[in-house]
Amino acid sequence: MRLENKTAILTGAGSGIGRAAALAFAREGAAICVADISKDAGQKTAADIVSAGGSAFSVQADVSNYDQVAAMVDTAEETWGKIDILVNNAGYGIGGTVVDTPEDDWNRLMATNVNGVFFGCKAVIPIMTAQGGGSIINTASAVSVVGIYNRAAYVASKGAVAALTRAMALDHADAKIRVNCVGAGTVESPYYDTLFKESAEPETLRAHLEQRQLFNRLGKPDEIAAAMLFLASDEASFCTGSTLFADGGWTAR
Ligand SMILES: NC(=O)c1ccc[n+]([C@@H]2O[C@H](COP(=O)([O-])OP(=O)(O)OC[C@H]3O[C@@H](n4cnc5c(N)ncnc54)[C@H](O)[C@@H]3O)[C@@H](O)[C@H]2O)c1
Repeated sequence: MRLENKTAILTGAGSGIGRAAALAFAREGAAICVADISKDAGQKTAADIVSAGGSAFSVQADVSNYDQVAAMVDTAEETWGKIDILVNNAGYGIGGTVVDTPEDDWNRLMATNVNGVFFGCKAVIPIMTAQGGGSIINTASAVSVVGIYNRAAYVASKGAVAALTRAMALDHADAKIRVNCVGAGTVESPYYDTLFKESAEPETLRAHLEQRQLFNRLGKPDEIAAAMLFLASDEASFCTGSTLFADGGWTAR
């Protein structure tokens, strides 16, 4: 029960890494607000937590829209009277160099991957400050420190998430708010299932992705959730502004 009596909002918790983290946090005793742009997916995660004996509700929210993020945070505060943990996890990737990425696609991705983190923190930090502290975890990526080919917008967005994490750690340390991020490697999530299905050469793509990581395999959502759980818990009481890499050793080379 590493999160006993804690309350946690997780965005993008209807699928993949966010869903695994929501289930893990609930198993450790936290009450969960499952936030996702997909109402059905969010409801499913919340229902699975409740049927396993945990406490959860879902909120449909698009993290690229400040009003929806503020409403999500208001609902959680009204329900619990406090918000201990925020996981800004909603995000996605697109292919393309800067030359062939359409401006609209770039802006849409930044609105979710970067503005979503900004909005979540903007809404929750005043509440955490007033209550005497909290823990924020942002989902960055190995690509916040290494480049990959043909994914310019995604790489830029995750670099921004890691940099914003450090900036917020400084600004809100006195308020006892710890702000950290997870540098996830390539993880077998529904996002990658779709990429494999759409690929003309799925086996070649999979081998390429596996070989980037020292363990020569893809990660599992639970392995990223475990890193998030550590950062969310009091065990990480001396960690702020850090990026915890859970990337199968990718960035060690
Ligand atoms: N899968 C990987 O290999 C990998 C690696 C590094 C980082 N990440 C990051 O992890 C996070 C989760 O990725 P995943 O692989 O679990 O993806 P996923 O597609 O399985 O899940 C993402 C969830 O976010 C939700 N979502 C998307 N846009 C949203 C929005 N605007 N507002 C609210 N919810 C939204 C989706 O509905 C979905 O439920 C993302 O930030 C991603 O960039 C993933």
